[in-house]
Amino acid sequence: MAELSELSAKLSEIKSQITSNLATITSSKGVYEYRKTVMDSKEGKIGSLMREMGKIPKELKADYGKMVNEIKNWAQDKFDAMDAEFKAREMKARYDKEAIDVTLPEKRQKKGNLHPNTQVRNQIVDIFGSMGFQIYEGNEIETDYYNFTALNIPQDHPARDMQDTFYLSPEFLLRTQTSAGQIHVMEAQQPPIKIISPGKVFRSDDDATHSPMFSQMEGLVVDKGITLCDLQGMLDVFVKKIFGEETSTRLRPSYFPFTEPSVEVDVSCFQCGGKGCKLCKGTGWIEVLGAGVVNKKVLDGCGIDSNVYSGLAFGIGIDRIAMLKYGINNIKLLFESDLRVLGQIDD
Ligand code: DAH
Repeated sequence: MAELSELSAKLSEIKSQITSNLATITSSKGVYEYRKTVMDSKEGKIGSLMREMGKIPKELKADYGKMVNEIKNWAQDKFDAMDAEFKAREMKARYDKEAIDVTLPEKRQKKGNLHPNTQVRNQIVDIFGSMGFQIYEGNEIETDYYNFTALNIPQDHPARDMQDTFYLSPEFLLRTQTSAGQIHVMEAQQPPIKIISPGKVFRSDDDATHSPMFSQMEGLVVDKGITLCDLQGMLDVFVKKIFGEETSTRLRPSYFPFTEPSVEVDVSCFQCGGKGCKLCKGTGWIEVLGAGVVNKKVLDGCGIDSNVYSGLAFGIGIDRIAMLKYGINNIKLLFESDLRVLGQIDD
């Protein structure tokens, strides 16, 4: 019996040790670590008690086991209770720290968008791209020859006055039209040719609808049997995609030195449906671009036999389309980088 009273004393000692040790623990992690050391089956104060069983006389084994189990349960309960208490406290502290005031106004996330000109350019590229056009990137600095002479605008031609040019030298200038790219393409390549050429152009011009720098998209198709009908067919698809399925085109005679015949292309007013409104100035039509059948002189000048091939060309003002499409009445708004304006247009 001596063994049992010894054990009982030992257990009381262990209990009071555990109780005083637990009083110094301040976190659930601390409880976990301490529990591990106490319950360790080799070295733990409680965990190792079972190993002693072998030394206990047979008739005392049952009582011994009971007492060990009792202290085991006592300790487990204590650890569990402390663990639960700390965890609840820690959870609350975390909630308090991470608390979100759902009544606060949201932080506005500014969503970026492409510039309206870029949006329109991408749309036009997609439309003509889907018709098989390839992109040609021209040069912003051109020679007088490519910008004018090769396009059938010789030195003293009155058409030069139509475009106030920034000359860099007598020979070099900032291109006034993407049409200059037509010549490079036709010099480098025999038909079939089917390109669009978007880019910046420059003219000494400055008012509500004109800016010294603006963007155009040139189109050029050269092949056997190309006619004005092909032009109207393509442009019909173009205006329907840009301005709406209900719109259509109208060709009006015009004059450009590099096309013969030349046309101005109007789109039926997408605001009033053709009845007449402020946007179309009561006419039901809005001018959107210049175009025509490539002048034979231009083809021949580039080494393309105008008896075999014919071509069509068009020049679209990208800013103009953006202004029409998004109801912008001053071209400066496109260049002032005011995000309150530009941020509204996300097509
Ligand atoms: N280059 C002309 C301009 O800037 C626009 C233009 C008109 C281009 C007719 C063309 C065309 O290719 O055929 O005013």
